Amino acid sequence: MSARVIDGNALAAKVRGEIAARAAALGGRGEQPGLAVVLIGNNPASAVYVRNKVAACEKAGIRSLKLEYPADVAPAVVMAKLAELNADATVHGILVQLPLPPQFDEGAVLEAISVAKDVDGFHAENVGRLSQGQEAFLPCTPHGVMRMFEAEGVSLSGAEAVVIGRSNIVGKPMAMLLTQAGATVTVCHSRTRDLAFHTRRADILVAAIGKPRFVTADMVKPGATVIDVGINRLPDGKLCGDVDFAGVSEVAGLITPVPGGVGPMTITMLLENTVISAERVARARQV
Ligand code: GUN
Repeated sequence: MSARVIDGNALAAKVRGEIAARAAALGGRGEQPGLAVVLIGNNPASAVYVRNKVAACEKAGIRSLKLEYPADVAPAVVMAKLAELNADATVHGILVQLPLPPQFDEGAVLEAISVAKDVDGFHAENVGRLSQGQEAFLPCTPHGVMRMFEAEGVSLSGAEAVVIGRSNIVGKPMAMLLTQAGATVTVCHSRTRDLAFHTRRADILVAAIGKPRFVTADMVKPGATVIDVGINRLPDGKLCGDVDFAGVSEVAGLITPVPGGVGPMTITMLLENTVISAERVARARQV
């Protein structure tokens, strides 16, 4: 059996076209969407992610503002800047790239961002709203995965879903979204005993662990939908996911590649959240 490969680039391009049209319409109403991206320190992966986010904004007609700080910056400096950005009417979305240097309290930084501008969906209030099924900014990676399921017609109601990874950014919100969509969800992680027992039962398997080619063919149920959230750099410089793509695509029914799978959809959902935030402001101005 050979799995059908989900083309994340194609889906992202389609959705970004719609986002660009909404951004242009907002510009015409005097509310050009704006995203502020804060990068602290010199984590090479973070620098690449931020560069990609800023470039994607430009293409979609979203104004971007990149704020960079050295790794030893005092937290008070960043907190003061966040307060300034919260009050800046030209900024509709604020994102602080994670991880942060050790002197920072991550929760305090995320909660210093206005809930209305929290386009990453990481503020405790947005997380709480999501957990209660209320309208909220959804975290971009799991939201992008849900949009892939929708686009591919993957049936979630009653499905057995297994998420490997329990991070605040991916694993936990992914589990919440799948639960809300009617799946029976198991969250596995580094302490899980007999991981393969769980993964082999999964109709939907989401891997978000950060270990190259960790999920192998023998861990996958024939015909399953396998979503690879991992982006790992191999010693030869090439990128690979958390799933052994060559082996698993012989067993799965549907699979995402790395690169070109989940990654482009993550950035697309960030652009969409920024446009949604600007649309809310434009609407409120009219009332
Ligand atoms: N670090 C890894 N992924 C993300 C993300 O989606 N948003 C932010 N802010 N930091 C990240």
